[in-house]
Amino acid sequence: MSLEQIEQRGMVLLGCGKMGSAMLAGWLSGGLPASAVWVLDPHPSDWLKSTGVHLNDGMPDNPALALIAVKPQMMGEALPAMQKLGNGETVFLSVAAGTSIATFAQALGERSPIIRAMPNTPAAVGRGISAVVGNAHATDAHMTMAETLLEAVGQVVRLDSESQIDAVTGVSGSGPAYVFHLIETLAAAGEAEGLPAEMAMKLAKATVGGAGQLAEDAPEDPGQLRVNVTSPNGTTQAALEVLMDEETGFPPLLRRAVKAAADRSRELGA
Ligand SMILES: NC(=O)c1ccc[n+]([C@@H]2O[C@H](COP(=O)([O-])OP(=O)(O)OC[C@H]3O[C@@H](n4cnc5c(N)ncnc54)[C@H](OP(=O)(O)O)[C@@H]3O)[C@@H](O)[C@H]2O)c1
Repeated sequence: MSLEQIEQRGMVLLGCGKMGSAMLAGWLSGGLPASAVWVLDPHPSDWLKSTGVHLNDGMPDNPALALIAVKPQMMGEALPAMQKLGNGETVFLSVAAGTSIATFAQALGERSPIIRAMPNTPAAVGRGISAVVGNAHATDAHMTMAETLLEAVGQVVRLDSESQIDAVTGVSGSGPAYVFHLIETLAAAGEAEGLPAEMAMKLAKATVGGAGQLAEDAPEDPGQLRVNVTSPNGTTQAALEVLMDEETGFPPLLRRAVKAAADRSRELGA
């Protein structure tokens, strides 16, 4: 990972809970020295204490980047600590759902380079995906630095406009929870068909994990992969007739679920 600016000038993490820790773990294992990282968090975890980063110990004068990873509800309380870095050379990278670039600009200074990202928790195993969008003060070099950081924990896509981030939140930001629920309900359905609970869960987890990997790796699109495993009048077709029902199946269900998440994201940002 080429992050010389961060190694030289340091970076600040405001809030280091689940998402901040998942990202920090990726950076440290990718070679970022702990001595380049200043974390501000009122209740640091034992893991965080063990990393050797500067913990609740101020911050450098001109850090290359400040990652904002507190909950949107804590933003008003947490942001003033960052104000002195505003309108300067520090790039602000926020992963908070629902806090707009305009809100950050207002709190941190209108001339601050601000990048909003929506990551997801598979970042904890290096398989996240983040979408990023920057304001007019975020240069190409700033965007590349943010993308390089986020690539340490998975894939990155760049958005054309901030308004797309609500849809991203609905698909990939909140999406891991939908897949966890798919695993839970697939296992429960297996149990209902007579399997022991533990075995049903093992089958469900491996099926979702394996199919996910295949969908990412195969040259065919997921629709074709589905067709490939569906023989006419076979078992898969019987299930797909239930799941693909235009009124009661996945299409209207996921449409409603993703819309609910995107609507909530818009509400939080309003
Ligand atoms: N988790 C996800 O799937 C996900 C996905 C995409 C984006 N995000 C975004 O990532 C952000 C963090 O989410 P999370 O799940 O990591 O939440 P989290 O685990 O609650 O982490 C937030 C951390 O910030 C700390 N904090 C609270 N007030 C603070 C302050 N004034 N100064 C410094 N630190 C403070 C919290 O400490 P205490 O626990 O002591 O309050 C906690 O350790 C959110 O804005 C969320 O929208 C999360």
